[in-house]
Amino acid sequence: MSEEIRSIGVLTSGGDAPGMNAAIRAVVRSALYFKRKAFGIYRGYEGLIDGEIREMDYPSVAKIIQRGGTILQSARSMRFKTPEGMKLAYENLKKAGIDALVVIGGDGTFRGAEEFSNVYPVRVVGIPGTIDNDLYGSDFTIGYDTALNTVVEAVDKIRDTAGSHNRLFFIEVMGRDAGFIALRSGIATGAEDILMPETETSIDELVDKLRHNRRESKTSGIIIVAEGDELGGAYEVARKVNEQFSGYSTRVTVLGHVQRGGSPTCMDRVLASLLGFESVKAILNGQNNVMVGQVDKKIVYTPFAKATKHNLTINRNMLEMARILSL
Ligand code: F6P
Repeated sequence: MSEEIRSIGVLTSGGDAPGMNAAIRAVVRSALYFKRKAFGIYRGYEGLIDGEIREMDYPSVAKIIQRGGTILQSARSMRFKTPEGMKLAYENLKKAGIDALVVIGGDGTFRGAEEFSNVYPVRVVGIPGTIDNDLYGSDFTIGYDTALNTVVEAVDKIRDTAGSHNRLFFIEVMGRDAGFIALRSGIATGAEDILMPETETSIDELVDKLRHNRRESKTSGIIIVAEGDELGGAYEVARKVNEQFSGYSTRVTVLGHVQRGGSPTCMDRVLASLLGFESVKAILNGQNNVMVGQVDKKIVYTPFAKATKHNLTINRNMLEMARILSL
């Protein structure tokens, strides 16, 4: 293992995700186990530029595995996109004696990490931490499972009141420009339809299906709408449906940031611990500019340039199954 790496910094960046704390804990304790120093960098790249860096020890990450959010906080940084910002960041790393970085975040995080690592001699390894699950190189990203369970719990509650009032609910879920949260939560809640950016949304087809459901005496229903759907969010889709079909009393619920919080599930805690541990091993084994992920139960390293690209495709078989099962 690389002897030249003496200190490892860790930061969280982009939208926070449940399980980030479990990953932070694993990175810190793995670094200390391998006799390296560990440093927490607060508020992502923005805090790195401002020098918000603190040395971490075992107690620094005690009792956080079960906590949502990130003790290191997060921020989006426009300054890190500038040469001046990156230079300040590098100078702060040097001042602290940090020679390697673990960055926990999504595609924006890794784009920044790759540019930084191409300019400055800092080894960088990424951990996929986003509820969107929109990264290539890991079956699941940290936070995705918890967000799904949050959505399922909320939609089950909405289905109760939809049934009481014979209403059709359009429920908007997060995912920025990906439909992975929509797809699995829609299947898990038996949604009548799932609208997402990866598939062409036809209001006419949706209305036909709703007419069919009405005739079949389906007196209430749930339509899951990914926030990035090309027709716009749930309010826009509901408006367009209501213009063509008045067979249901409709309501809209936007779940919003409730999907970003909460105590991480066991799945997310285990994934985060595994990827945190493996990210430190990757650094000490000389890896650089890669995201650590788990694919088919195996640890894989994916170059940032590939991980950040949307090489992902939605599982259309699952979508077809969802439509068949919701007829
Ligand atoms: O990337 C995670 C995410 O929650 C997206 O699903 C969502 O579109 C975005 O972050 C919201 O960003 P913000 O928290 O800055 O409003």
